[in-house]
Amino acid sequence: MRTFADRKYNNMGDRANFGSKLGVILATAGSAVGLGNVWRFPYMVGENGGAVFIIIYVACVVLLGIPCMVSEFIVGRHGQANTARAYRKLAGRTPWALIGYMGVLTGFLITGYYAVVSGWCLQYIFASLIGHLQGDPEYFKTYFAELASDPVKPVLWTVIILGVTYLIIEHGVRDGIERASKMLMPTLFILLLIIVGASCMLPNADKGIEFLFKPDLSKLTGDVFLGALGQSFYSLSIAMGCLCTYASYFSKYTNLTKSASQIAFIDCMVAILAGLMIFPAAFAVGVSPDSGASLVFITLPNVFQQAFAGIPALGYAISLVFFALLTLAALTSLISLHEVSTAFLHEELVITRKKAARIVTITTMIIGALCSLSLGAVEFMTVWEQTLFDIFDFVTGQIFLPIVGFLTCIFIGWFVPHKLVRQEFTNWGTLRGRFFHLYIFLVKYVCPMAILFIFLHQLGLLD
Ligand code: PHE
Repeated sequence: MRTFADRKYNNMGDRANFGSKLGVILATAGSAVGLGNVWRFPYMVGENGGAVFIIIYVACVVLLGIPCMVSEFIVGRHGQANTARAYRKLAGRTPWALIGYMGVLTGFLITGYYAVVSGWCLQYIFASLIGHLQGDPEYFKTYFAELASDPVKPVLWTVIILGVTYLIIEHGVRDGIERASKMLMPTLFILLLIIVGASCMLPNADKGIEFLFKPDLSKLTGDVFLGALGQSFYSLSIAMGCLCTYASYFSKYTNLTKSASQIAFIDCMVAILAGLMIFPAAFAVGVSPDSGASLVFITLPNVFQQAFAGIPALGYAISLVFFALLTLAALTSLISLHEVSTAFLHEELVITRKKAARIVTITTMIIGALCSLSLGAVEFMTVWEQTLFDIFDFVTGQIFLPIVGFLTCIFIGWFVPHKLVRQEFTNWGTLRGRFFHLYIFLVKYVCPMAILFIFLHQLGLLD
């Protein structure tokens, strides 16, 4: 007998989809695992007291991140279309349809800015290769400051990384995104384990490990909680249209809750391994782990150099491997961000996928170049004394992300009929859906309230 799901999906024509379960997990985990895990997570841990932050972070992922992720999956797989159309299908002519457009816009805006940071990683690979990543701590500071404000180099790297993203996206969902993820993600894991191994074998590494895993409850403050919450959403790629777009390529057999849990697990593992790669080395050379956003680009090259001073070739190789890993992580996220806008233009303007991808590539290259230039090369590109780069970071991460996340929860929890939500949640009754009631409770009450808290806190309205 043909089920409702069969009829629904067989009518979808030849819409692209992922070819295997592994493809679904690796591609979506590729979106989630990014600069957020390797760059942002470790410095947040460093600034927020180590193990305590990690515990709260994992709790946020499980209780808030996974339900939000499942909600986006539901919208995307039900819609079988780009994020804007997927929300429109559920929202009809109500204003809720706007959430989808906001998601696409957020994804689009963040692409260029994310590409700039990814471009820095490429420059650092290059610098390690030609032996430029050697010097005293002051040297690393100047090196980074000069790179960020250079008018040519970072722009060139931004263009290159977006070009590579285009080449992958252009091959489509299965031959492009899925195939690339299946190669890039395992490579990333191997590189990660190599550095974790090297770092944990250093003398005094146990101090770093202790910092990561031994909680000191006196460090627990409201800031730790809100920091963990914000980081968990960013790290899982929530509210940027990515999860929704990828879910539209899932099959009717994809178990949404299980996939979300597996992806969240991989994301947490990578973040914690990133901590294990950085802290033992930092403690081994007595560098404080709370050096903020500059951790990866300024502190770390210095740490690796000092930690492996006995065998300079090893220090050298570790730097190279580290920045290669960071670039891979960034690239898989960049692919998912690019795909949000590509799918949107392809389906909404009814143009070919290639043409859509080209438009997205060129426009994000321009945005990326402007962001990069605003960091020093072209001074007048600052608004309200903020660089364009910071404005993009602020508007996408601190304003749009919470708004889209909040509205998605309210939309699914209060507006979309629960019968429909349940159908997607249980794959039309073929799964038991044991957690359905818990899920609905979380998206209806807990997630929106938690997001509202981060939002007000970020705006400084709540202290
Ligand atoms: N989750 C990615 C990271 O951890 C960032 C990202 C956010 C990517 C949103 C895509 C969409 O770096």
